[in-house]
Amino acid sequence: MRTWVAPGRVNIIGEHTDYNDGYVLPIALPLVMRCTAAARTDGRVRVGSRQRPGEPVLIAVSELAAQRARVPGWSRYPLGVVAEFARRGIRIPGVDLDLDGEVPIGAGLSSSAALSCAVAVALRDLFAPGVSDRVLIEVARSAENDYAGAPTGLLDQSAAILCTAGHALLLDVRGFAADTDAPRGVAHEQIPFNLDSFGLQLLVIDTGQPHQLVDGRYAERRAECAAAAAALGVAALRDIASAADTDRIADAVLRRRARHVVTENTRVLAVAEKLRDGVDPRGIGPILTEGHASLRDDFEVSTPALDAAVDTALAAGAHGARMVGGGFGGSVIALVDREKTGGVVTAVRRRFADAGLPDPRTFVVIAAAGAHCVG
Ligand code: GLA
Repeated sequence: MRTWVAPGRVNIIGEHTDYNDGYVLPIALPLVMRCTAAARTDGRVRVGSRQRPGEPVLIAVSELAAQRARVPGWSRYPLGVVAEFARRGIRIPGVDLDLDGEVPIGAGLSSSAALSCAVAVALRDLFAPGVSDRVLIEVARSAENDYAGAPTGLLDQSAAILCTAGHALLLDVRGFAADTDAPRGVAHEQIPFNLDSFGLQLLVIDTGQPHQLVDGRYAERRAECAAAAAALGVAALRDIASAADTDRIADAVLRRRARHVVTENTRVLAVAEKLRDGVDPRGIGPILTEGHASLRDDFEVSTPALDAAVDTALAAGAHGARMVGGGFGGSVIALVDREKTGGVVTAVRRRFADAGLPDPRTFVVIAAAGAHCVG
C-alpha cells in the first residue's frame, strides 16, 4: 500500500476565466487530500473515507457507469476517476482506495479536485504510468463534470497536478486544451511566488459560508458567458482583447459578465508579468483588489461576508484582497505585511462578530507542491 497526496488551491488571480478559454494563476496549498491505494485482482473497487466512517462502497469496475446514480454523492469523485480511466480503455483490475484529508470542504479551496487528483495520480502510478499530466487533468475533470455532476473548468485540477513549490502556475487554458502530448508539453509556466523574502504573507480567510458548484448558480454564470461570446460572434470570451468591445453586447447583464472576464484575463497577465520580473509583490495588491470589485459588481458572485472580509483586510493594511474560487461563499485571500497579519485577523474577526457572522477560519499559506506519492 502506498499513499498519494494532492493539494487544495487558491487562485492568485483569474476567476471564472478558465471556462472562457482564458488565463489563471493558482498556487497549490500546503493542505492536501490523501489517497492510500492498493491493487485488487477481483475487478472491484472499494472506497472508504475517514470523513465518512462506516460508509465504504464496494462495486465492480464494470458496473461504475451504470450505477452512478446509486452510489453516495461523496464517493462519486473517487469512483468517477476509476470510471473515467476505464472509459478511456485503461484496464483497472480492481483497487482499494482509502481517503483522508485536511482541505476544508466548501471553502472554495478545491477540496473536490484535490480528492479526484489524489485518486488520479494513484491510479496512474499503479496501472497506467504512461498517462500524461494533461490527460490526467482531463480524467479528473471529467470525473467531476460527468460522474459527480459538478461543472468545473480546468483550473482546480490543473493546479492540483501541475503546481510546484515556490511558484504560481500561469496556465493558458486554450493553449492547454488544444495541445497534444507532444514533447513541448502544456501551455503553462511556473512563475516565482515567494512572499516570505519580501516580508509578506498570503492570508486565507474562510468565511464558513459553504460554496457549492452543484447548486446551479455556477452553471448559470457559465451559460451567461457562452451567451455573451455568441452575442459578440466569438468562440469564447478569451477572443475579446479590449473591455470596450463588450459595449457591443445589448443585454446589460451579459455585458457585465463579459467585462469581468475580459478585464480579468488582462489582470492575470499583468500580475504574472510583475511576479516574473521578481519585483516587490506588493505591486500586485491593487490588481487583486480590482479583481474583487469586478467579481462583486460585474460578475456578481460575491457575498456580504466576502465583501466584509475584503474591506476589513484592506482597512487593516492589506496590500490587496479578493474572494477566490467560484463565489457565492467560500474564502478570501489577502496580501499582508508579515507584521500586520495578526492585526488583519483580529479586525476581520471583530467585524464578523459585530455583523453576527460566524467566526471565520484564517490561515497563512505558501505556494506548495502539486500531487505526488508520499510513499
Ligand atoms: C470553481 C471551478 C473552477 C473555476 C472557478 C472560478 O472553482 O471549479 O473551474 O471556474 O470556480 O474561477
